[in-house]
Amino acid sequence: MTVKEICKKIQLDEKLCEKALAWASENESFCRKFMPLLLKGKSNFALNLNGIQKLALTLSCLPSVYQAYAKKGINEKIFTDTFSDIKIWCDNAFEQYGEEGLVNIHWIAKHLSMKIFRIGRLQYEFSRFLILPHAKLKDVLKCPYKLGEKCITLHIPQGEKLDTDKCLSSLQEANAFFEKHYPDYKYRCYTVITWLVNPDLQTVLGDDSNIVKFGKLFNILGYVPDSDMNERRIFGYKKDRENYSPQNALQAYTLSRIQKKLPLYSYNGYRTK
Ligand SMILES: CC(C)(COP(=O)(O)OP(=O)(O)OC[C@H]1O[C@@H](n2cnc3c(N)ncnc32)[C@H](O)[C@@H]1OP(=O)(O)O)[C@@H](O)C(=O)NCCC(=O)NCCS
Repeated sequence: MTVKEICKKIQLDEKLCEKALAWASENESFCRKFMPLLLKGKSNFALNLNGIQKLALTLSCLPSVYQAYAKKGINEKIFTDTFSDIKIWCDNAFEQYGEEGLVNIHWIAKHLSMKIFRIGRLQYEFSRFLILPHAKLKDVLKCPYKLGEKCITLHIPQGEKLDTDKCLSSLQEANAFFEKHYPDYKYRCYTVITWLVNPDLQTVLGDDSNIVKFGKLFNILGYVPDSDMNERRIFGYKKDRENYSPQNALQAYTLSRIQKKLPLYSYNGYRTK
């Protein structure tokens, strides 16, 4: 599959794609030099590149990742879904920095090096079991997993509702995916680090909320103050506090904590495979 065909499949803006590909073809030797690093998940070299240059390098890597997926027998839908994240992060770059292209290449390098896959609603990353540094701990003695043991960390991409049935099928598919394609990777649980599993949200959003139902899929191990992440995910990147006007109970709760200078947290959770 050509890179243009891939861009179409992942629904990347056509003009953005053309701009990045034009830069890649004018700077072919630069791309050829740095692609191997990106394919290994390394992106520090790209710190000073602009969004179009980062996107150009990323797109240049896609045909070889496509082949690597095919070689491992991973189906094309997982490839397309995984790399649809490029569009999400190009949109975020524009919203956050007004920058065209991709800023968060550090994140997409994980996809390019096949450390993250999107399987249905959720994303899955090879990782190690950890407790967030300086976390306030909760029920640690009940946790059957050891620090540092292999696990898979879940991520929750923006862009669609967090339907519980979709999350559960995603988890089931993930079990089958890792068993089939990575049989030597023995892991016992999924972990998550997110604002979404905040137990206080049950009172705010009620039992029918997708977020609350998602939270119930995990045991919580610890939590750390992370007001910035909460605010960004709930009010967007602009941080235009004077003009916040809550549209729902989640925003009202978040704003009231910000105004009272009370912290909002990220939670460290786990779920048995
Ligand atoms: C995860 C996500 C899809 C959940 O949305 P959802 O399926 O609508 O969740 P719920 O049904 O529980 O939503 C309850 C209410 O809160 C609102 N809400 C949910 N997430 C919201 C968010 N991030 N910002 C503002 N409002 C939000 C919903 O619109 C709904 O409002 P309503 O009662 O007026 O209809 C959404 O929060 C999102 O896109 N987040 C961005 C991705 C993210 O944060 N990932 C984790 C990074 S650590």
